[in-house]
Amino acid sequence: MKRVTIIGAGEVGTSCAYCIAERDVINELVLLDRKPGLAEGKALDLRQMAAIKRFDTNVIGVCNDYTATADSDIIVITSGITRSPGMERSELVTTNAKIVQEVTQQATKYSPNAIILVVSNPLDVLCYCAYITSQFPAHRVMGMSGLLDIARYKSFIAEELNVSSKDIQALILGGHGKTMVPMPRYTTIGGIPIRQLMSEEQIQKVIKRTQLGGEELINYLGRSAWFAAGASICQMIEAIICDQRRVFPVCAYLNGEYGFSDIYLGVPVILGANGIEKVIELELDPSDKENFIKSENEIRNNLNIMRQIIQS
Ligand code: 2OP
Repeated sequence: MKRVTIIGAGEVGTSCAYCIAERDVINELVLLDRKPGLAEGKALDLRQMAAIKRFDTNVIGVCNDYTATADSDIIVITSGITRSPGMERSELVTTNAKIVQEVTQQATKYSPNAIILVVSNPLDVLCYCAYITSQFPAHRVMGMSGLLDIARYKSFIAEELNVSSKDIQALILGGHGKTMVPMPRYTTIGGIPIRQLMSEEQIQKVIKRTQLGGEELINYLGRSAWFAAGASICQMIEAIICDQRRVFPVCAYLNGEYGFSDIYLGVPVILGANGIEKVIELELDPSDKENFIKSENEIRNNLNIMRQIIQS
């Protein structure tokens, strides 16, 4: 019996629910929200869609009833407020740290062996919040941001070169924000290094657009987006549930890797049944290292703010 709980039946949670239900790799999906009727209604709608899309995942919706989430293999946390135009992700910490703390306490009480997948923003900082609140081993607490940022990076490269995004392999390190570090050195298209196909000017344009990828969407939608995020979480769930040992960029706890300790940051990992099976360490050239340190500094400052909030 494979059970996954998604906390938060907003756009991101629902989009992920749709993707993972359709994959038919879990038996039960529990959608939980604190707003009465929201998760129940969306779950009912998804159950009706099952007949058309042909999946057997049983989708259950509950209003804040954590007993229904008991013994989940994975807990996905999407709770909290999202950004409006002009806001930085870090500004959400005041509201979302308390929410993630409370949700983590509730969910882990009923699923003490689960893997926690954080999606709420500010992502890197709230992963740390879920880690210290749950007291789970670090390999069972992680965040989704790298797959989303890379999906954006790939789509912009594909647009720029008029090629399929399917053939692009890429890597981004660091925090989920403007200081993220897209890595042209580790970006290939059909095996061809990106620098052989794009000018430095084009590459820098794509990097900038990726770093501001969330903002571009917010400016259209008035809030942050959900389809690519939902699909990215779905890929991580599937990698864990099916023990696929995928090599994915994940927001992971670092304990000396890349020279950083006691912090959550985006790095490549092997993702399998135990969660983070291994953090992959790469050699960085001096400019990438410098940018990674800038990103780390930003996250560390926000960590201190988060700590004060959850202790207050
Ligand atoms: C984004 O970048 C919500 O942080 C998420 O769209």
